[in-house]
Order: sequence, then structure tokens, then C-alpha cells
Amino acid sequence: MIKVAVVGCGYWGPNLIRNFCSVPQCVMSMACDTKPDRLEYIQRLYPSVAVTSDFQDIINNDDIDAVAIATPVAMHFPMAQQCLQRGKHVLLEKPITASVKECQELIRLAVKHGRTLMVDHTFEYTAAVNKIKEIIQSGELGQIYYIDCVRVNLGLFQNDINVVWDLAPHDVSIVLYLLDQQPESISGQGKAHLKPGIEDVAALALNFPDNLGVYIQSSWLHPNKIRKITIVGSKKMLVYDDVDPLEKIKIYDKGVEVPAHYETFGDFHFSYRYGDIYSPRLEETEPLKKVCQHFIECIGNGTQPRTNGISGLRVVSVLESANISLKNGGSPIAIDWNRVTPEEISAKDSI
Ligand SMILES: NC(=O)c1ccc[n+]([C@@H]2O[C@H](COP(=O)([O-])OP(=O)(O)OC[C@H]3O[C@@H](n4cnc5c(N)ncnc54)[C@H](O)[C@@H]3O)[C@@H](O)[C@H]2O)c1
Repeated sequence: MIKVAVVGCGYWGPNLIRNFCSVPQCVMSMACDTKPDRLEYIQRLYPSVAVTSDFQDIINNDDIDAVAIATPVAMHFPMAQQCLQRGKHVLLEKPITASVKECQELIRLAVKHGRTLMVDHTFEYTAAVNKIKEIIQSGELGQIYYIDCVRVNLGLFQNDINVVWDLAPHDVSIVLYLLDQQPESISGQGKAHLKPGIEDVAALALNFPDNLGVYIQSSWLHPNKIRKITIVGSKKMLVYDDVDPLEKIKIYDKGVEVPAHYETFGDFHFSYRYGDIYSPRLEETEPLKKVCQHFIECIGNGTQPRTNGISGLRVVSVLESANISLKNGGSPIAIDWNRVTPEEISAKDSI
């Protein structure tokens, strides 16, 4: 039985605790938060879970095999570093760290100590995103022209990170997973309206090979909750609306055809196709349960998680470059993926 501790019992941590309680191969043993009211809340719900306000109680407890960290992003690296150094497996919330350098170091530590390092890119475990990946791979949409992601609502304002680091990790991880490619360059624009220096509205443009563009809009300052991804292909178009409880994915048989031959400018006409719309059935189970189960299975089998350190590193590289661009008025930043993922990391991490 793998003994698990969860650090950070604010908004997201209790969801991790609830899900680890339902995984048969582990025991949800300890919870940690500096706020007494959060610990009281956890004790009331889960009387068998020991609680502490001191993270060192977890580090020094040799019975704890694995630690899930759901604290503010700045704490991810120092906490995960100590866990790995003490031989504990680590599941980190998104984004895995606050910088590329920190993430590279965690990957090195995980390899050195032979421990599992996983990041909770929750959406990669949803039925909807996996269905979309299947549809793209089947060729049904044709060549992907562009992807448009909108993730906006009112709040929740964060003190330590801007909206790019808070909301865009979801879209970036989804897009990298769907396309199985990395962007060549990124530009970002954003504005801070309420807290100086912390952008609450941002728009990113990711340039992929073959003229493929991905546009990500993130906001904490919007009247409506929108979580929508539109994928436009040469054959069909797909809309993924995560807020829709029944028809999350809709495939539109719509498109534009350019005439193959034309003699004069007058002969050149686009023809538009307006076909059927269908919505595939999804068998949804809570994605966070799959995340927790997968983490425990990977520890047990010694296998690499689907969303391992490298996966976290790719997302953080995009966020870091986007942030540099945003602070420089939107100039495109090229990403050197060989530098980001040195050979010694990718080779060892993929074992
Ligand atoms: N995967 C998802 O869909 C998802 C959703 C929401 C949040 N998150 C991630 O979860 C993490 C936490 O976000 P949140 O919204 O729950 O934040 P939150 O502020 O609600 O909770 C963070 C908790 O950490 C505690 N904490 C801070 N320093 C600590 C320390 N030194 N020791 C112990 N506890 C400490 C705080 O007291 C707080 O209760 C972030 O990384 C965020 O990006 C992920």
C-alpha cells in the first residue's frame, strides 16, 4: 500500500484527497496546510487522515511514500525538491514549476533518486480531450489550420501569478497533447487592470510548423464563464465546449473549397460547404480520479506517467516564453526545444 500525503488544502487540494481516498492501492495518510481552518475542514470530512501545519512533518515521515502538492505555484519547486531528495514520489499541480530551470532540476532529481515525477494536467485525462485526439488522428478534420482557445470568467484573481500562468496551462497542455508537436515561436499580449504587474487579461499566439496557428485567450475579468476550444481543419470543424453538460464536442461538416483551376480572376470563387453537425457520446469519469489512479499505478509499476516531468517542462517552456513576450510588448520569442529538453534529461526520463 502506497501512503500518500497531500500538501495544500485550499480550493484544489481537497479534490486530490477525495480522489486518493477512492484509489484502492493507496492509503490517504496525511494532509498539510498552514491554515488551521483548512485542516479542521479536512479532519471533519476525513477523520482517518492525520493533519499537520508543518510541511517538515511530511518530509521527516518515512512512512509517507508519495506527496501530492497543491500549494501556490512558487512553492511547487522547493517542496517537490525536498520530497524527491527524501526519496518520495511527487505529483505536482499545474503548472509544474514557476520556471524551466526549476522543472529541469526536478526531472534530474527524479531520475537520480529513481522516483516518479508527475504533473496534474487534468484535461489530458478527460474523455472529451481524448475523443478529440482520436478524431484528429483519424484524419476526419483534415489538415488542422488553426485552434482557438477561450478560457475566461470573473476571477479567481491570484496574488503571485498572472492569468497566463493560472489559466493558460490547461490550454497549452491540451494543445500540445492533441497536436503532439511543439510551437516554434510564441507571442503574448496582456494587461493588468486591477493589480499592477499581474496581468488579468492575456492573448497568446503559438506558431507551429506548417502554418498552424494556436490562439489562447485567458481572462479573470469577464462576465461569462467560457471554456471553449475550436479546431478548424481543411475538411471539418470541431467545437469543444467544456461548460456544456451534454454535448461537449460538436463536429461541423463545414468548410471552404478553393477552385482547383481558374483562368481569370472572375472565375475565382470560394465554395462554402454547410453540412451536418453531430455530437459524439462521451463516457466521462472524473478526470482527477484517473490522474490519482495513474500516479499510484506508475509508482507501483515503475513506469513513466503520461504527464511526466518532460510534459510539465514543455508546458512551462511555453508559459515562460509567453511571459517574456508579454513583458516585451508582444514580440515573438523563438523556443529552442533542444536547449529546453537537454538530451540527458529526455533520454533518462523516457526509461
Ligand atoms: N488541475 C486543475 O484543474 C487545478 C485547478 C485549480 C488549481 N490548480 C492548482 O492547484 C494549486 C493550488 O491552487 P488552489 O486554487 O487550490 O490555491 P489555494 O490558494 O486555494 O490553496 C493553496 C493552499 O496552500 C496552502 N499553503 C500555502 N503555503 C503552504 C505551506 N508552506 N505549507 C502548507 N500549505 C501551504 C494555503 O494555505 C492554501 O490553503 C495551484 O498550483 C493551481 O494552479 C489546479
